[in-house]
Amino acid sequence: MKHIDDVNLTTAQLLEDTPVAENTTRRTVLRNGVALVAGACLPITSVKLAFGGEREDFTFAYISDSHIQHIRGNKFVRNWDRGLIRAVAECNLMNPRPDFVIYGGDLAQLGKKSELDHGFEMMAGLNNFDVHYVMGEHDYYLDLGEYWSEHNGPQYYSFDHKGVHFVVLNSIIVDDDWTHNTWKDGTERMGVMAGLDDPRGSPFMIGKKQLKWLKNDLKKVSKDTPVVVCSHSPIQKIFKNWNFWTEEAEDIQKLLKKFDKATVLYGHVHQIQYNQIDNISFHAVMATAWPWPYPQSYVQAESHLPQLTIPMNRANPFFERDATGWQYIDINSGRASVNYSLPQNKSRTVAYDPDKGHPVDTTYQEAGLTLPQKRY
Ligand SMILES: [Fe+2]
Ligand SMILES: [Fe+2]
Repeated sequence: MKHIDDVNLTTAQLLEDTPVAENTTRRTVLRNGVALVAGACLPITSVKLAFGGEREDFTFAYISDSHIQHIRGNKFVRNWDRGLIRAVAECNLMNPRPDFVIYGGDLAQLGKKSELDHGFEMMAGLNNFDVHYVMGEHDYYLDLGEYWSEHNGPQYYSFDHKGVHFVVLNSIIVDDDWTHNTWKDGTERMGVMAGLDDPRGSPFMIGKKQLKWLKNDLKKVSKDTPVVVCSHSPIQKIFKNWNFWTEEAEDIQKLLKKFDKATVLYGHVHQIQYNQIDNISFHAVMATAWPWPYPQSYVQAESHLPQLTIPMNRANPFFERDATGWQYIDINSGRASVNYSLPQNKSRTVAYDPDKGHPVDTTYQEAGLTLPQKRY
């Protein structure tokens, strides 16, 4: 695997069009298709589906939770912009080239047209990739996803790719009564849903109509077809107060039970999590914007915490990419092994252990043993 450093290029150089070698700029690097692979501390997730049998192996990239935020005029929060710009640039440079890109939701911070437009514009920097978008609550609650849908189409859908069935869910809807009858307007509703710890929020769900659609959709899929579900919130119940939660998690898990190989990938939690429930492997993807606190710091009542890989005591305010990062997921025979690379922390692998029947962090460290974060 070639690392960016191997060819004496830094990501910053690639992004800024800085000359990186004689007569070579980012554009010529891209045009010449130099074989680069994203290295540590990069805010993108690469997912590899590997099969020993008749199916063709392929990879896809996963970018999530950029939270593009409009300040005023043409000003946007710079850190969030840079996270997405960087992910897009790295995606273009990945080798092997991903077959497509999934955007995991929360492209915008407050669902404004200006934020979505700015986000879509940056995503348009992807070099001829199909992009499948997942709805996040920050994209939705201003106008109930209207502008997002004008750009992206249906809010839930499925597609097939090289023998794998992909399902994209809109898991962030809530009761109609809460949505329509509680708030003065969309701005007030969005403001409440944008807060992580606001008790006036409401638990996320997919709703009866979508659950019925999912049931019908999966009916047509044979049990030996690998299924990958992409949602914004986890399709497992972790912590309700922050909507690390989907109300119908058990119903959805039941629908996935018949499949030999099932994986759920989700955003929203802005951190590394993994879990195994029966036949289903769960993996969170990291955010390009900021990390949320890890579950040691949640209120511990009625929560069902997956094993953690990197407990982080807090974000380092002087390092904008702290606790964002890069992971490579290899789903071999339906079992995910995930290789995490994080800045200022130890790289590690979470792999399925057939004897134990669940994923195991092969280099798990208790919080007290993690490398100290630098303070300045
Ligand atoms: Fe988010
Ligand atoms: Fe979210």
